[in-house]
Parts: sequence; structure tokens; C-alpha cells
Amino acid sequence: MNAPKPPLQENRLSRFILITRLILALATKRNRYPLTCAALWSAMQLIYRDMPGDGMETYLVITQSQVERFLESGWDYTESRLHMLRQVSNFPLTLDGAHQLVELSQQMEGVRHGSFDQVRSAVYEDPTYPIFQHVGQAFRNQTSGRLPFVLQTLVDTPTRPHRICDAGCGSGILLGDVLEQAQGAMGTGIDISSRLLRHARQVLGVRGLDQRARLTRADIRNLPVEGNAFDFILAMEVLEHLPDPPVGLAELRRVLAPDGWLVTTIPVEDRVAVHLHVFDSIDEINHLHVSAGLKIERQQVVQVAPGIPNVISAVRKA
Ligand SMILES: C[S@@+](CC[C@H](N)C(=O)[O-])C[C@H]1O[C@@H](n2cnc3c(N)ncnc32)[C@H](O)[C@@H]1O
Repeated sequence: MNAPKPPLQENRLSRFILITRLILALATKRNRYPLTCAALWSAMQLIYRDMPGDGMETYLVITQSQVERFLESGWDYTESRLHMLRQVSNFPLTLDGAHQLVELSQQMEGVRHGSFDQVRSAVYEDPTYPIFQHVGQAFRNQTSGRLPFVLQTLVDTPTRPHRICDAGCGSGILLGDVLEQAQGAMGTGIDISSRLLRHARQVLGVRGLDQRARLTRADIRNLPVEGNAFDFILAMEVLEHLPDPPVGLAELRRVLAPDGWLVTTIPVEDRVAVHLHVFDSIDEINHLHVSAGLKIERQQVVQVAPGIPNVISAVRKA
């Protein structure tokens, strides 16, 4: 992206720095590295989202709920995924790094009302975007409950899935997690961003999974694979990135085997600029699946931030 980046908003930035410093101090005191990153991640959320209510108060609620979730789910997952980030990148997980992520957040807001191609060139191909994605997955997979949901669905499928696809695979962390559980299966990671695919290749490489995963650059709405190609498909937080989610979901259904399973996650009322379609309710999400000829087998709703439920659904062909 060659266009100059918009200046940071002073009030938000200073609030961000203050909060991050506080949590960095706490993290150092407790010698807990993940907490440092929790600070980064929460602060990023504050910056790039127009949170309802007073910013500081909202921030504290988010941080508190994240810390509580960490206490429940343990730190190991996040810590090991952040370790992978350190193995594949020298991105500084410090205040400097936080500034870079904030700049990307500003850039994301700059594409508000943009087209899919604008989002793709301004955000998905930004050099910092893989870091943003990686840090996000390192936190959310475990604390939002989506990783346990996916792994449980994998275990519960009556036939063992051999062909697994992560559509919009981002950093590749989740695809790696699933491949580790589904011994013997082959994985396909699809994403529109060549930068993310490069990052995902490295992440799968440090986990020794590169021989079991094929990474392909493609648009979910037009997949270069034959019908019924996959037994298990993930489409996690990607359908809302399309201007036309039904087109993407129809394509995912086409490549899903007749007895295959598809897991989607979609946030409700999550109005960030890169979401080219905002779902207003859980009903709308359910309608999307049902009208695509899919049957909802299991569903879980998790609050990822105050007022923003994330809907995780395991679906099959109706
Ligand atoms: C919010 S991220 C989610 C990444 C990952 N699935 C997760 O849940 O953490 C959205 C991802 O979808 C990708 N993406 C957006 N539009 C896409 C499209 N039309 N086709 C394929 N990938 C797309 C982006 O590059 C990004 O990696």
C-alpha cells in the first residue's frame, strides 16, 4: 500500500499507551509474557473498534474478561503460539510493535465503505497483517472457545475426516492445530492474501506439518477445486469479510463432501471496516446457512467483547 497512512488519533493513542504500560508493568511483575500480549491485543481492539460507552471502562471489562478466560483455559496454548511467532518473525512484541499494529488498525478504518479489492490491497497485503492475525489467533482460539468447539466437532464426526480445508486460514495456526489432532489427514489452507499464506507456510513448517498441508491463494467465492473435495471445512471469521456471504457459503457447500462437516464462526454487529457485510442477529446467521442448503447441527455463542457475540456453528448438507 503506497498511500500515506492517516495520522493516529491522539486521544486514542495516549489512552492506548497508558493502558498498555499499566499492563506491561503488571506482566513484568508477574513474569507472565502472555499478559503482555493480552495487553497488546486488548488495546488493539479498543483502538480499531468504536466501543460503546466510555473507552477506559469498556477496555477494563474486556481485559478483565480476557484475563478470566486465561485463568480458566490456561496460558500454555497462547504462550506456545506466540513462541511460534517469534520463530518465524522478528516483529517486536513491545510498545513499538503495538504502534505498528495501531497504524494498521487506522489503515483498516481508512477503508470503511471500501470495496473488496480496496480491503485486499490496503489490509490483507499489508506486511503487518500476518502479525495481527497471528496474535489474534494465539489469543482467541483458546479463550473464545472456538478451538475446543472445532476439535470436539472433529472427534464427533462419524467418519474420520481425511481431507481438511481451512478457508480463509489466516496465520495457519488453527489449521496446524486441527492437523495435529487429525493424524493422517491432509490439509488445505486457502486465503486471498499471499502474505498470510507465506506466514502460514512458515508457521506450519516450524510445527513439522508442511508436508501435510497445501496452501493455495484463492477467493472463497471461486475455489479452484472440484466438488465434494473436503470432509471437514473451517470458515472462521471470514464470511463477514465478503460483500456477498451467500456466494461464499454456496461455494463452500459445493466443495463439501456429502457427509462432510463445515464449521463457521461469524460475529454479530461487529462493525469494523473490513467486514463488508455486518450480520445484525443470530437469526440472520442461521438464515444464511439454512438458505444455502445447510443444516445446523451444533451451535455455540461466545461473547468476544461486550455486545459482540460470536456464533460458532457446525453444519452439514441438508
Ligand atoms: C479475520 S481473518 C480470519 C482468519 C482465521 N480464519 C481466523 O479465524 O483467525 C479473515 C481472513 O480471511 C481472508 N479472506 C478475506 N476475504 C477472503 C476471500 N474472499 N477469500 C479467501 N480468503 C479471504 C483474509 O485474508 C484473512 O486471512
